[in-house]
Amino acid sequence: MALMWVIKCKAAVAWEPNKPVVIEEIEVAPPQANEVRIKIVATAVCHSDLYHLFEGMNKDGFPTVLGHEAAGIVESVGPGVTEFQPGDKVIPIFLSQCQECHLCKNPKTNQCAVAWTRIHQETMSAVESRFTCKGKRVLQFMGTSTFSEYTVVHQMAVAKIDPAAPLDKVCLVGCGISTGYGAAVNTAKVEPGSTCAVFGLGAVGLAAVMGCKAAGAKRIIAVDINPEKAEKAKVFGATDFVNPKDHDKPISEVLTEMTNGGVDYSVECVGNVQVMRSALESSAQGWGVSVIVGWTTLHDIAIQPIHLISGRTWKGSLFGGFKSKDGVPKMVKAYLDKKLKLDEFITHNMTLDQANDAIELMKNFCMKCL
Ligand SMILES: NC(=O)c1ccc[n+]([C@@H]2O[C@H](COP(=O)([O-])OP(=O)(O)OC[C@H]3O[C@@H](n4cnc5c(N)ncnc54)[C@H](O)[C@@H]3O)[C@@H](O)[C@H]2O)c1
Ligand SMILES: [Zn+2]
Ligand SMILES: [Zn+2]
Repeated sequence: MALMWVIKCKAAVAWEPNKPVVIEEIEVAPPQANEVRIKIVATAVCHSDLYHLFEGMNKDGFPTVLGHEAAGIVESVGPGVTEFQPGDKVIPIFLSQCQECHLCKNPKTNQCAVAWTRIHQETMSAVESRFTCKGKRVLQFMGTSTFSEYTVVHQMAVAKIDPAAPLDKVCLVGCGISTGYGAAVNTAKVEPGSTCAVFGLGAVGLAAVMGCKAAGAKRIIAVDINPEKAEKAKVFGATDFVNPKDHDKPISEVLTEMTNGGVDYSVECVGNVQVMRSALESSAQGWGVSVIVGWTTLHDIAIQPIHLISGRTWKGSLFGGFKSKDGVPKMVKAYLDKKLKLDEFITHNMTLDQANDAIELMKNFCMKCL
C-alpha cells in the first residue's frame, strides 16, 4: 500500500461572503476510498464562483475554497481507485457521473442521482471535505475547490484526458465551455440554417455562440449590455450584436422584429430571471426553444402561460447536457483536433496569489455585477 501523507499547500480561502479571498497555507488530507488527490496546474474563474461569494452569500457555505474549472495531474489515489494513476492528466467536474444510478444509465440526461447528495445546492459545497486551515474545517466548493495547489475529488467527478492536452487551455472545458457549447448542441439541439440568440457573453455565452455555429446556425444574435463584448462574439461566430440598452423597447420585441417572428433557439447565459423571461419571449411562436443556463437560487421566474401554450419549449441545461466523465475527454479531443476554440477565451494569465485580481476582473467585465 502506498504511503499517504497530508499535503500542506497554498489555497485561496474565502472565509466569509462578500470579502476578498485570503491566500493561506491549508492541509489537504490523503484521498480516502474512491477519491483522487490532484495537483491543480491551471484553473479559471466562472461566474458561479462569484455568485457564491457575492450573490448567493449563504453563510453555511463558508469558509470555502472556490474554483471548479480546472485541470491537473493525479498526485495519489485512495483505496478502490483503479481508473486513475499518479501522473494522469485529469479535469475535475462539479457534476458527477456515478455510472450506476438510473439517471446515469439513461442516455436522455446527464443528471446523476448521486450528484446532489454529495453537493448541497444551497451551500454549493460538498458534504465531505479534505481541507483544514488554522485548525478549522474548510468546505470544498462544488466538490472541486480548484483555487488550491492540491485538491481531493471523488473519482465519479474526475475525467481522464489525453496526455497531450495543454492544461492551461483545457481547464476551460471543466465548466464554461462545455456548459455553453453543450447547451446549444445537446440541449437546444440547434439545427442547420436556424436563427439563434445568446443572452450574456461571458465564457458560457460565447461558448453557446460557438455551439450554435458548430451546429450550422445561419444567424446568431449575441446580446449583452456590455458593448465591449461585440467584437469577441464575432470571433466565435455571432452575426449580429444587440445591446438592450440601445433600445427603448423590450429586447424580446427588438429580436422578434429583427427575425420576423422570433428566433428558433435562445440561450440564457446570465443568471437573471428577467433575462430568462426575455429569452423565452424572444423565441418563435410555434416552435421556439429557449434554454436556461444562468444560475440563481434567489428568485422565481414569472411568465405568461400563453408563451408556452403557443408552442414554445422552455428547457434548462446543467453542464451543457454532457454526461461529465464521458463528455469532457471528447471536448478535450475536439480541441486537440482543432474543432473547438479555447485559446480565444483566455484574456489574462495570472498566479494563485492574484486570485482577488482575477475575481475583480471578472466582476468588472460583468455588467450584472456593477
Ligand atoms: N447551468 C450550468 O451548468 C452553469 C455552468 C456554469 C455557469 N453557469 C452560469 O452561467 C452564467 C454565466 O457565467 P459566465 O461565467 O459566462 O459569466 P460572466 O460574468 O463571464 O458573463 C455574464 C455576461 O452577462 C452579461 N449580462 C449581465 N446582465 C445582462 C443582461 N441584463 N442582459 C444581457 N447580458 C447581461 C454580462 O455583461 C456578462 O458579459 C452564470 O449565471 C453562471 O453561474 C451555469
Ligand atoms: Zn462554472
Ligand atoms: Zn449517477
